[in-house]
Amino acid sequence: MEFAHLFSKGTIGNMELKNRVILPAMGTKMNAPGGYVSERLIDYHVARAKGGNGLNTVEVTTIHPTAASDDAPALYDDKFIPGMTQLAQAIRDAGGKSCLQLWHGGKVTPNLIQVSSSPVPFEGVTHIPRELEHHEVSEMVQAYADAASRAKKAGFDSVEFHAGHGYLPQQFLSPAMNFRQDEYGGSWENRCRFPLACIRAIREAVGSEFPILMRISAIEDLPGGLTLEDMKLFSKHAEEAGIDAINVSRGVPSGAAIKYEVPPIDLPVGFNVDNAAQIKSAVNIPVIAVGRINDPAVADRIIAEGLADFVAIGRAQLADPEFCNKALAGRADTIVKCVGCDQGCFDGFVNPKVPFISCVFNPATGRESEYELQRTSTPKKVLIAGGGPAGLEAAVTLKRRGHSPILCEKNDILGGQLYIAGAAPRKEEMAAAALNMGEAAKREGVEIRMNTEVTPELIQEISPDEVILAIGSTPIIPPVEGVLNSHVVNSHAVLWGTAHPEGRVVIIGGGLVGLEVAELLVERGNQITVVEMQDDVANDLGILRKICVMESLYGHGVKLMTNSKCMAIQKDSVMVEKDGELHSLPADYVVIAVGSRALNKQTLQDFLEESAIPYHVIGDAVQARRALNAIWEGAELARRI
Ligand SMILES: Cc1cc2nc3c(=O)[nH]c(=O)nc-3n(C[C@H](O)[C@H](O)[C@H](O)COP(=O)(O)O)c2cc1C
Ligand code: SF4
Repeated sequence: MEFAHLFSKGTIGNMELKNRVILPAMGTKMNAPGGYVSERLIDYHVARAKGGNGLNTVEVTTIHPTAASDDAPALYDDKFIPGMTQLAQAIRDAGGKSCLQLWHGGKVTPNLIQVSSSPVPFEGVTHIPRELEHHEVSEMVQAYADAASRAKKAGFDSVEFHAGHGYLPQQFLSPAMNFRQDEYGGSWENRCRFPLACIRAIREAVGSEFPILMRISAIEDLPGGLTLEDMKLFSKHAEEAGIDAINVSRGVPSGAAIKYEVPPIDLPVGFNVDNAAQIKSAVNIPVIAVGRINDPAVADRIIAEGLADFVAIGRAQLADPEFCNKALAGRADTIVKCVGCDQGCFDGFVNPKVPFISCVFNPATGRESEYELQRTSTPKKVLIAGGGPAGLEAAVTLKRRGHSPILCEKNDILGGQLYIAGAAPRKEEMAAAALNMGEAAKREGVEIRMNTEVTPELIQEISPDEVILAIGSTPIIPPVEGVLNSHVVNSHAVLWGTAHPEGRVVIIGGGLVGLEVAELLVERGNQITVVEMQDDVANDLGILRKICVMESLYGHGVKLMTNSKCMAIQKDSVMVEKDGELHSLPADYVVIAVGSRALNKQTLQDFLEESAIPYHVIGDAVQARRALNAIWEGAELARRI
């Protein structure tokens, strides 16, 4: 059997799991208001349990009202037990095992009154948390125990004590966060007192047979904070106190360290496995590795080499809930891969305007019921102009529903802007994902015509029932003096590899594309200045990717000029206005990266209207935006036709 190690049985305490794949806790915002379980949350877990994993962990669940939030499920009161019972039962009915994560964020909660070990906020946060009084510390210990009892009563197979990611237990353990003078602060022994008391109380509450996992951050990544050696020692103490398995994550929600919690594409696949192996060397209980494990072969190797006993595979199961089933059935090549873009999941989680998380490549995540595909009773021939992400998503979905899509791509490669974006440093997986979308369309049997531009004549010849215009966008060329000079190129040409600027390069535009071009060119040994009109660069990037891109730019000495406007491009310089003053920047080449605009589709639209052929416009052809918008529009439209 392929991936025999990954799909061998494993045990945590007395709990037998059918394989070594765990769905880790991931905040979904899918709960109902007030912290209750919703149908959406149940459907989300059922899809992953059906997908064949060994254990499903329900996200951060609040154990005390001081951590309550409308964006997280709760179990600080008996009133939450009925909903949790439904959730646990649904996971069981789907063939899965369940775990519930016991959580108090301490100073990392959205509440106005936050509590912590000490009244010290995280760096950059102005809100001062309230120090828990001595008697309140015992109240918190009891709250963890009570919530664990409720989870057991609700029918969960296990609980996970969240002692990582800078949350309340870590706020006690850490010398960088705990400045108490009582028996909960100061020495190592004192700082361990609260988390160990929680573990003992949970064990007492659930009995000796019930599995308790614990999540930690292997390295705190705060100045003067917890080290890997500290966490090895703490893991030993936790084992003695009654923990059955340790889930080894990394990072805290402060400064750049947050990038390790939900590692973006910029961090290597399996970047944290060595830390899990280190923790494993210190304990005699199973250890779980996590962090950018997005491929069954990688996961299998981790188990085979004994680096960890289990792997937590999070976002890869958002991108494809069938991850395990496909790998087990020898169809690993059909897995929709998570690339670590964080657009649909983490960026959605932190954006208050986004109701719940999803995935760029799997818009059905969080919409499991609404997006269940219905076969059409009126099959149609649908002509799709454009083989970028919007067109490909629409084509695959239409085909699966029983329609006959014909997709025409004017270039010789599928994937559009997504493929081009993959040319930037560290983003090869993005290009691969774009190509995979094309492969999926071919596998599905979509008729694909490459090097074929959709014209009125072609529409006439094909005579479709409906047409989808997904023709994408083109770089904006701003009306600046000198912009047509031969040493001026656009960002897409650089990423495509058809333009090769060298020497002193000035990039006009500090959005994602401009910065990625800057990274690409600086890595080739060029001297780069980025000119941006707004007061910050990378405004169109999510926070985790932004941290990594900025680290790379600073590390390579790229010069960033904000609040700066390009006034003219001359033969060997660029005139820039900043704070009312003109500056002349020496330039051998200039790259224009001020965004894209939808390609002109008027001729096609006029023809379609005259011919009374129903048509739809999706993706960048409406307005240039992120891959997420393009793919989701394709998915949405193809369910309506
Ligand atoms: C949207 C989102 C929410 C998350 N929420 C939690 C959480 O509730 N508890 C937790 O311990 N980790 C949380 N994480 C971290 C994941 O459990 C996991 O450690 C991380 O995504 C890295 O694993 P992966 O690369 O397999 O996704 C979250 C991650 C994401 C993407
Ligand atoms: S949105 Fe991106 S990072 Fe998140 S699960 Fe999907 S592919 Fe992975």
